[in-house]
Amino acid sequence: MGPCSCGEGTVCIKRLANATASHYSRITTPRKLPLMYICICNAIRESDLRSAARRQNGDAEALYQRLGHQPRCRQCLSAAQQIVATERSFMAA
Ligand code: FES
Repeated sequence: MGPCSCGEGTVCIKRLANATASHYSRITTPRKLPLMYICICNAIRESDLRSAARRQNGDAEALYQRLGHQPRCRQCLSAAQQIVATERSFMAA
């Protein structure tokens, strides 16, 4: 973190408070997701995949299996894997 534009230097209390508030609002504010299907063949919703990614290990295909499904046409797996990676990056942040 570089010097603050307010002139207080790197230890600016206002800036630190804003950064902390922003950090906690990201963690505590539930993200409202539209109801979207990521896998049409199996009717797997994006929200279900994100929830599974938070609770369990494995790639998208493994999560499909844990949700009780098998990929069929496999057209969704690339996008599903990106969603899994994104969800896990939120958890790591
Ligand atoms: S859309 Fe997911 S397997 Fe076909």
